[in-house]
Amino acid sequence: MTSEGDGDLKTAVQQQFGRVAAKYLTSAVHAQGEDLPVMVKAANLHGDERVLDAGCGAGHAASTFAPHAAEVVALDFTESMLRQVELLAEARGLGNIGTRLGDVESLPFDDNTFDLVVSRYSAHHWPSPAQALHQFRRVLRPGGQFILSDVIGFDSPVCDTYLNAIEILRDSSHVRDFTLTEWRNFFSTAEFSVEVVLTYRIYLEFEEWTRRMETTEVNRAAIRSLYAVAPSEVREALQIDDEGHSFLAVVLRGTTGAS
Ligand SMILES: C[S@@+](CC[C@H](N)C(=O)[O-])C[C@H]1O[C@@H](n2cnc3c(N)ncnc32)[C@H](O)[C@@H]1O
Repeated sequence: MTSEGDGDLKTAVQQQFGRVAAKYLTSAVHAQGEDLPVMVKAANLHGDERVLDAGCGAGHAASTFAPHAAEVVALDFTESMLRQVELLAEARGLGNIGTRLGDVESLPFDDNTFDLVVSRYSAHHWPSPAQALHQFRRVLRPGGQFILSDVIGFDSPVCDTYLNAIEILRDSSHVRDFTLTEWRNFFSTAEFSVEVVLTYRIYLEFEEWTRRMETTEVNRAAIRSLYAVAPSEVREALQIDDEGHSFLAVVLRGTTGAS
């Protein structure tokens, strides 16, 4: 169910990414990453599958999966991102990537039409991940899989509060970096069995990270002040140093029954 408030939030996400879409094509954090080959390996594709990249951004996951699948549909609700996907597909000579404008929480596809859904660094913008996972379950064929890669929150309340405060100061269209416990609940509510495939760190260099999202000077100063007052537990959890900090991220694999 999407509330009126969610609509405002989604408009904020679209405006935010609409402004900076091109920067996501070249962002090293997005273009590279140890999670991408791990996601492909976990999917164990045969080459004849139809794959959905949900919240595709500039299409780095879509273009990583495309050589291993029959077709990849890259879906995003920010139109200018889809243009970046086309540019990337063209540059890499990938003719089996199609784009589709749409919301992950209300997918414009029939039931049982994909073998694999992947989503990378998008879910922290979704007002209702449970709703999105129900949609993924709906469009997946029996035996289909959902592979997620995203930053996760902390079980420690103080670490979780600092993490999400820093995130929202940098980009006010964030909802939350969900904890692993929350993700396990979303997967099981949508009837996926879930396993952790990879736990990894993403190091964010403060200047590049905030410039990419065009964070205001006021908010950049506020993030720096949080770095400065963070208790040692938070400094260690976020590995805060003079140049930036790092986040904890996971690759999760959800499987469905064969019938
Ligand atoms: C950081 S980018 C994604 C990066 C990309 N997946 C990659 O691997 O490089 C986040 C994307 O999620 C999209 N997004 C956020 N909420 C969405 C929703 N409800 N439906 C569709 N796309 C959404 C945004 O428009 C944005 O393009």
